[in-house]
Amino acid sequence: MKDRVAVMHGVNLDMLERRPSDVYGELSFPQLERQIGKLAQELGLETRFFQSNFEGEFVEELHRAADYADGLLLNPGAWTHYAWALRDALEIAGLPAVEVHLSDIAVREDWRHLSVLEGVVVGRVRGQGVDGYRSALEMLKEAL
Ligand code: DQA
Repeated sequence: MKDRVAVMHGVNLDMLERRPSDVYGELSFPQLERQIGKLAQELGLETRFFQSNFEGEFVEELHRAADYADGLLLNPGAWTHYAWALRDALEIAGLPAVEVHLSDIAVREDWRHLSVLEGVVVGRVRGQGVDGYRSALEMLKEAL
């Protein structure tokens, strides 16, 4: 049976094509999701996609994730840097997770340097644009 990955994007990622392309690239959000789907298929992984701009909805999806997924690929957007409830929810989910960011959060503003997910994810990828999702899926596959 194929490993099942829940690909979860957080706040403002649905507006990708309206965000600075020098930071986030040229893809629209539907194009990004399609690319991730293709990359996952190449690796023999099944995907299910979720995006929300509401933190509580994102948390509730994490609570449900173990019912339909074996692992998680997470880009929570700005929540990454302050939404500690996501860290607790990820612990509750109890699934291996990889954190991915299109931009390199380590070289941007100071407030982006902290990730609430540090220490509870099996891998972190940043600053590789859409290609970073391939590395993240590979890491996740390794962990499954
Ligand atoms: C992001 C980085 C975050 O700092 C930012 O708030 C985002 C996107 C990224 O993919 O580079 O919304 O997670």
